[in-house]
Amino acid sequence: MSVEQENRPGTTARSRTLTVSEVVQETKDSVSIAFEVPDEIVDDFKHLPGQFITLKIPSDQTGHVARCYSLSSSPHVDDFRLEIGVKRTAGGYASNWLCDNVSVGMEVTVLTPSGKFTAKSLDVDMLFFAGGSGITPVLSLVKSALVSGSGEVVLFYANRDADSVMYERQLQQIRSEFAERFTLVYWLESENGLPTSVAVEKIIRDHKGSSIFTCGPSPFMDLVERSAAACGVDHSDVHREVFQSLAGDPFDTATLRRLSDDEGVATATVYLNGECITTEWPRNTPLLDVLLSRGHNAPYSCREGACSACVCKLIEGDVEMAQNNILVNDDIEDGERLACQALPLTDAVTVSFDDL
Ligand code: FES
Repeated sequence: MSVEQENRPGTTARSRTLTVSEVVQETKDSVSIAFEVPDEIVDDFKHLPGQFITLKIPSDQTGHVARCYSLSSSPHVDDFRLEIGVKRTAGGYASNWLCDNVSVGMEVTVLTPSGKFTAKSLDVDMLFFAGGSGITPVLSLVKSALVSGSGEVVLFYANRDADSVMYERQLQQIRSEFAERFTLVYWLESENGLPTSVAVEKIIRDHKGSSIFTCGPSPFMDLVERSAAACGVDHSDVHREVFQSLAGDPFDTATLRRLSDDEGVATATVYLNGECITTEWPRNTPLLDVLLSRGHNAPYSCREGACSACVCKLIEGDVEMAQNNILVNDDIEDGERLACQALPLTDAVTVSFDDL
């Protein structure tokens, strides 16, 4: 007996086409790009603040490349509208292509939102550290926390100089609307040099007990993590966004593993998008490939164990991960597993994508 691959060639369960509805030049080297989400696919774009989408960018050399961009829009504020922030990178291709070519009316193929740079609760005090274009997911979280949460929100936002500050107009509006709960601290390298541990530790001490989120260049996030540790903040209270370059092509379903029961079959029970799915799980095939092949809209981006878009929680049974370049020990102890790398170790496995 063999289990046939069931996906349609050239499609992926999470691939959708969106139309660009607005392009705003944020700074001389960055733009924000908004997409309207048509009513018929609005459910596919339900997401949490802090998540990202993956764009398919045309390329003369390879046909296309895939890149992840954080959403700066908030699901609590910006109904039916998704917005990403894109900044030029020296020698980079995809972001520079978008800055040079994107225009209203352009159709873009995207993978639906995913990612684990999210908040378990918006009703807590939150302290954000954003560096440069790392503001994009942070802005989504800040807006969501202020509109739907109840805690104090502090944003430390570091940039090269005043001309490099993305989303300044939005931030000023937010500051005047939520003056009692929102504190915005700008740090400009042109005036103060690179952010220092003294400055970062002072803010952390002044806002002890807040959940800390950081997104930006790696040295900046390292500084925040070190400073939090020096202030005695538990590692689990520091949330860091991690982006790895995509080496493979998440839009290419030809690379989905062909389903075969040559090495036996386990049973997977999967809670996904409010449904409970029970399906045969060929032991040599990652769970994500099984779900996508059978048309289930499971989240993913890199399919290489590097981005955490496919993270799910192990409820029963056991799995092994072929690769894991993103989950830390705390995540694994919490039961988190990467569906794109998960192979069954037990005859029956239950996981949930809905309850992380
Ligand atoms: S899809 Fe990126 S880690 Fe699984």
